[in-house]
Amino acid sequence: MTVAELMHKPAVVVRQEITLAEAAKVLDQANVGAAAVLDHEGHLVGMVSERDLLRSVGHAIDPGATTVAEVMTRTPVTLSIDDSVAKALRLFTERRFRHLPVLDAEQVAGILSIRHVVRVAQISEVLPAGSAPPELAPRGLEGVAVAETSVGDVRGEEGFFHYRGYNAVELARRCSFEQVWHLLVEGTLPDGSQLADFTARTVAARKLPEGITDMLRGVATLPNYTPLSSLRSAVSVTAAALGAQPTLDLTSEQVRADCLRIAALVPVALMRLHRQRNGLAPVEPDPELGYAAAYLQMLTGRRPEPREARALEQYLILTMDHGFNASTFTARVITSTGSDIGSALTGAIGALAGPLHGGAPSRALAMLDAIGTPDRAEAYLRAEILAGQRLMGFGHRVYKTDDPRSLLLREVASELGGPQVEFARRVEDTALRVLEELKPGRRLYTNVEFYAGVVMNSVGVPRDMFTPTFACSRTVGWTAAIAEQASNNRLIRPSALYVGPPPPRPLPDGYGVEAAALSARG
Ligand SMILES: CC(C)(COP(=O)(O)OP(=O)(O)OC[C@H]1O[C@@H](n2cnc3c(N)ncnc32)[C@H](O)[C@@H]1OP(=O)(O)O)[C@@H](O)C(=O)NCCC(=O)NCCS
Repeated sequence: MTVAELMHKPAVVVRQEITLAEAAKVLDQANVGAAAVLDHEGHLVGMVSERDLLRSVGHAIDPGATTVAEVMTRTPVTLSIDDSVAKALRLFTERRFRHLPVLDAEQVAGILSIRHVVRVAQISEVLPAGSAPPELAPRGLEGVAVAETSVGDVRGEEGFFHYRGYNAVELARRCSFEQVWHLLVEGTLPDGSQLADFTARTVAARKLPEGITDMLRGVATLPNYTPLSSLRSAVSVTAAALGAQPTLDLTSEQVRADCLRIAALVPVALMRLHRQRNGLAPVEPDPELGYAAAYLQMLTGRRPEPREARALEQYLILTMDHGFNASTFTARVITSTGSDIGSALTGAIGALAGPLHGGAPSRALAMLDAIGTPDRAEAYLRAEILAGQRLMGFGHRVYKTDDPRSLLLREVASELGGPQVEFARRVEDTALRVLEELKPGRRLYTNVEFYAGVVMNSVGVPRDMFTPTFACSRTVGWTAAIAEQASNNRLIRPSALYVGPPPPRPLPDGYGVEAAALSARG
């Protein structure tokens, strides 16, 4: 079969001087996904597709003032009318094209879409033996950029991460939780009146919606309660009670308003669960207190010391966001379907709950407990490493130098002071020395989890609340990602490389339901 039999003909064509808005109209009227771009002599100079148009809108390019010539694919790969469908399919799969212009001599005779090809043939029948399979991304998508973001990024080799371009460690040193929250979700550092307005909105949003207190009590008394899985259920229920609508039907402002409300409510719901589980009366959040101080007040029932609240606030700011991690990606995938923010956050907490993501702050503390006294550190740590164990709170997939979060948290812990902090510093020094000796060249440094546990413990957060506390601050990063995805959405729908038995497989003889049984089922 040749491509001439399958292509869309005559080709839909546009001139390169017309605007993107005009080109979009042509594609829409012809109901095709791409057009050939011709010069004055009628020669093919490029291809323009729906994807080009969408990408331009995503980059805030004015479609009424930008010409096709500025965005089209120049000197495109072409097919000839005599080419086989197998050749076309190979080009589509190897080069990731979706449309190819088909030439008859010098003239554009038609356009072949990958849909034309896939519709007519089983891939296995058309692909010649030995041809290359579709490209497979590396396992775990390591090193693959799957989206553009302005929220923030991690530079592992430099030991640096940022939120919207600002050094996140500097933000944690100098700013309040609410200032950084505004930066991440609203996109800018707030001035004085913006901050006052934003803070007032976050305080007002701390009121649990009607009718969910009983449900939270039910969750808190489940037999196999764990704080994080209960928080996941609580977020789902809370979003349902708030009536969160599909992001597809909302304006950007409405999405951000939902983001603010739910991020303000997550710690309130968490603390209700925690106190009810522990037989304590719930504590309403004090409207006079900022996020971090109110967090501790709802947890313990007393107003925290300012230095305790500030220490927790710095931890919370440092953990709001961290590049395109698994839970952030999850939140974006769910949002890309147009689903509501409650679904996206519930999924994100589910991703965070996995041991490979949720971190090990309580395990680092458990290691300190197991060591017990400074004089036992060296022997314990050596024995662990020689037994093939990993030291909790050391090493990182991305940071191959000091984890910037651990540097600041070490300072924060030191300011809080106390015997545990002193002990942790001695264990850290020993661990780094022993790792250098027993694992030379692996570039293992202290990670965020080592001092996170120490800081949280020092300000009164119980161990089983470490990861839920992390989930609260990370909700800010998730909501920033959700708002960004919703404002420039495209359904995230990758493909997989099928490696099972070759299709189509015949069903075994006689297999299935008897005809009589089928008709009895109606
Ligand atoms: C975070 C972590 C999973 C990253 O691991 P990674 O980038 O996949 O590193 P690798 O598994 O490739 O390890 C490379 C080498 O360093 C060693 N290593 C890594 N982290 C180590 C640790 N904490 N203690 C001892 N050795 C460690 C590995 O054993 C391996 O040694 P080898 O070359 O002799 O086999 C890992 O460092 C770890 O398990 N740390 C402890 C748990 C922890 O603190 N988690 C919180 C992370 S924020």
